Order: sequence, then C-alpha cells, then structure tokens
Amino acid sequence: MKQIIFATNNAHKLGEVQAVLGDEFRLVTLAECGITEDIPETAATLEGNALQKARYVHERTGRDCFADDTGLEVDALGGEPGVHSARYATDGHDFAANNALLLRNLADKSDRRAHFRTVIALILDGEEHLFEGRVDGVIAEQMSGAGGFGYDPLFVPEGHTESFAEMSAEAKNAISHRGRAVARLVEFLRKTDK
Ligand code: IMP
Repeated sequence: MKQIIFATNNAHKLGEVQAVLGDEFRLVTLAECGITEDIPETAATLEGNALQKARYVHERTGRDCFADDTGLEVDALGGEPGVHSARYATDGHDFAANNALLLRNLADKSDRRAHFRTVIALILDGEEHLFEGRVDGVIAEQMSGAGGFGYDPLFVPEGHTESFAEMSAEAKNAISHRGRAVARLVEFLRKTDK
C-alpha cells in the first residue's frame, strides 16, 4: 500500500482524511517518523504555512508528505482573523475567547460575510502541489450548537440556516473547506501513477 505522511498532530483530522482515502493510501503520522517537536508556522499566508510544514517534514524524512492550514476570512475585517485564526484572541487555542472577540469586532458591522479556506501543500516525488477548499457563509449574531470546534458555533454556511456546530460531522464534512480541499488532494493522488 502507498504511504504518505500527513504533517498534523490532530488525530481527528488524520482519521477524517484516512476515511476519505480508503485503503489505497496509508497515512503515516509525524510520531511514526520521529517528529515530535512543534513544526514552525511563521508564514504570512495559509499557503506559506502549509508549504513551510510540508517542507519541514520532507527535509527531515525525504518522503512524500502533505500539510494543511486553515483560516476564517471575514470580509468586513479585511480577511482577518485569516492566518491568525487559532491565536486571534490569545496565544493559545482558546475557542471561546476567539469567538467572543470576533463577535465584538463585528458588533457594528452589517456585512457578516465570511469564508473558511483550507490550503493543503503536498510534496510528491519532490514536487510541490497546492490544493484549496473554501466554504462561504455568514457570521451569526450569536453562537449556537455544541458540535465541531473553533468558530463552528458562529459560522452559518451559505444555503443553510444552522451553524456548523449544529450540523452532524458528515453534513459539515460534505460541504466544508477541509472536506473540499481533501477531496481535491485525493482526486490528485488517485490520478497519479505512483
Ligand atoms: P488549522 O490550520 O486547521 O489548525 O486551523 C486553524 C484555526 O482555524 C483553528 O484553531 C480554528 O480556530 C479555525 N478552524 C479551522 N478549521 C475549522 C473548522 O472546521 N471550524 C471552525 N474553526 C476552524
């Protein structure tokens, strides 16, 4: 079976992508290749961060790998929090504080449009490829739902009335930024003759 490293420490993401890949590819974890340190993410864009992580792993292992980076881009905030989505309000991944800050920053704004964007950087046979997935929607006036994570309780995807946090994981994955980016990656991997 073909093997490929997924540069993430998030077991949930790993399982999600492995499920889409089926048994054609086996995802290898960072721990399995002896990478236990935090991989730097210091670029100014999602593309830059995804590439930075994939290159870091490729330089150390010489193996095929991919990495992802996601941001919530809010129109009325000039695309913020964007690449700073995880650390919008604090230095940690404090979802409650991030959501509270987002609501405060949008308090006087009537334009609530936003989108999630995921970029995946793949290094296959030493060549770099980028894949993007995006879902458009609006930021609600208040949080609702208990599922998902991050900004899910505030994000209502286009064509829906419920937030991502009110949807089942399957319903969210079918239309989400990450689901769409992963689908493009998988389609590409299936097409390649490796
Ligand atoms: P990451 O690049 O996937 O780690 O995402 C960075 C940050 O974006 C996370 O810490 C979350 O705040 C936010 N985020 C990413 N994906 C989602 C999602 O599917 N729902 C809500 N928030 C997300």
